[in-house]
Amino acid sequence: MTSILDPLQLGNLKINNRIIMAPLTRMRSKQPGNIPWELNATYYAQRASAGFIITEATQVSQQAQGYPGTPGIHTKEQVQGWKLVTDAVHKKNGRIFLQLWHVGRISHSSHQPNGNLPVAPSAIPAKNSGTYTADWKPTEILTPRALEINEIDLIVKDFENAAKNAKEAGFDGVEVHMANGYLLDQFLQDGSNKRTDEFGGSIQNRIKFPLQVLDAVIKVWENDKVGVRLSPYGKFNDMNDSNPIQLFNYVLDELNKRKILYVHMIEPRATNAGGSDQDVKDGSAPSTSKLFRKKFNGIFISAGGYDIKNAKQVIESKEVDAVAFGRIFISNPDLPKRIELNKELNSYKRETFYGGTEKGYTDYPFLS
Ligand code: PHB
Repeated sequence: MTSILDPLQLGNLKINNRIIMAPLTRMRSKQPGNIPWELNATYYAQRASAGFIITEATQVSQQAQGYPGTPGIHTKEQVQGWKLVTDAVHKKNGRIFLQLWHVGRISHSSHQPNGNLPVAPSAIPAKNSGTYTADWKPTEILTPRALEINEIDLIVKDFENAAKNAKEAGFDGVEVHMANGYLLDQFLQDGSNKRTDEFGGSIQNRIKFPLQVLDAVIKVWENDKVGVRLSPYGKFNDMNDSNPIQLFNYVLDELNKRKILYVHMIEPRATNAGGSDQDVKDGSAPSTSKLFRKKFNGIFISAGGYDIKNAKQVIESKEVDAVAFGRIFISNPDLPKRIELNKELNSYKRETFYGGTEKGYTDYPFLS
């Protein structure tokens, strides 16, 4: 029987357990410049006993930013800052992947170059979604500007450049963020992609740009160092698709062709990605690991609202290879040790999830 504490061969990395630290937006990079710094290095190093760490979503360009304080990977200073993080994690024998992110329409002019409108496949706003302006004022999502066809290639280049920067910064691999209603997901799903050119319409057309991005990243990193995050049936950021089964089976076929390292899929059971205050269980949505795991030939990581008991069960039954934990990794830097020794977990404080200082960030206690 496979245990959550068993090692896992992840390409040519052997990780010590199947307890993955999920990507978590914390909005604590150094300002100005959205630069990772010592505080972030301390936070990640505290959690180095994870099987591996996936960093918080990290913008590949200025245009890719949607929230204040989220880090980037497109300037020299940011690359230097991330080096502090990767060095600190490696010193503790941890492994760390960078999550590459473009928010698309989930932004605000105050984050955009020249105060422009945020960009998207189509000029359709995300209803009931919000963000914060550059000076931390809550704001609703405006109607974005549809990308011109000649701009798409520039964004592919931004991802490629960011992938190179991630290599220079000493990461062990990268995860391409195709989930949760951000730019690549906005292209995949037909609720947000109404384009009439070669990047919209059929599934083959809608997937074209996300695959161009993935292929550019693979060119830099090799397929066995690249993962992809997906969120079929997730409603966060006003997402929907007319045929998710067909769409995501097609996506997984394309990922299989490229033999990427892993797929990281979010269970729609937990629809509070992005910080609504309650766990809203989506009773109408199926389990995505049950629906899609068999389709993918590589490592399958599942995330979304797991407790320890459920996580052990899905790994023991071989439904998935590993589970990514978010909130309980925030409040338990030594989560694998606590699982191993069956110890009580620290509870998390939602009010310190986003922005602020070391409070609720690097001050959660370890087991004594
Ligand atoms: C967020 O910043 O709210 C956020 C970022 C990335 C996600 C989900 C939520 O995948």
